[in-house]
Amino acid sequence: MSGPAQRGLLRGLVITAVLAVLALGAYVVFASLIPRSSQDGGSGQVTIGGPFELVDHEGRTVTDRDFAGRLMLIYFGFTNCPDICPTGLQTMAIAMDELGAAGEKVQPLLITVDPERDTPAVMKEYVQAFHERLVGLTGTPEQIAKVAREYRVYYQKVALKDSSLGYSVDHSGFIYLMDGEGKYLTHFRHDTTPEQMAERIKSKL
Ligand code: NI
Repeated sequence: MSGPAQRGLLRGLVITAVLAVLALGAYVVFASLIPRSSQDGGSGQVTIGGPFELVDHEGRTVTDRDFAGRLMLIYFGFTNCPDICPTGLQTMAIAMDELGAAGEKVQPLLITVDPERDTPAVMKEYVQAFHERLVGLTGTPEQIAKVAREYRVYYQKVALKDSSLGYSVDHSGFIYLMDGEGKYLTHFRHDTTPEQMAERIKSKL
């Protein structure tokens, strides 16, 4: 009962089982990284978004209610980000231009994940380099932690050894589209093209 054929079969079964476990594990990790829509059925709970109180790039206190009636196009990033944030923000800016007049019903927002360095003044200079309608939002570390939690945004300070910056911030790169009441509509990956983004925003207006 332990000839080469049986051993070969056994090895095959073990390999298949290991691959199945790996595939399941990869699926679980992947699924957990994708924001879930509130319309996914099942629980029916809103899982993305929520009320916030932050400080805009003019130093004014603002809440989600200040943007009511417009779609919010929200990116979480920070002004010292070397590449991912500028790409995502550039995409948002071009998509806003593509929307033309319809874009007035959309409010693009950058919420910083580096509130200690991204003061209103720093945010103002940064967002205005991308688009005249882009509003930068910052706040206390607690306010930022709360809104990031509501939007399921991951961010983590990472020490930089050989840089005058001292630290960088790892963060997730989704761009969220919320409806006029602040409820989740859809999200974009940061590498979505401006054309795709504009089309999908149009379909939600
Ligand atoms: Ni970034």
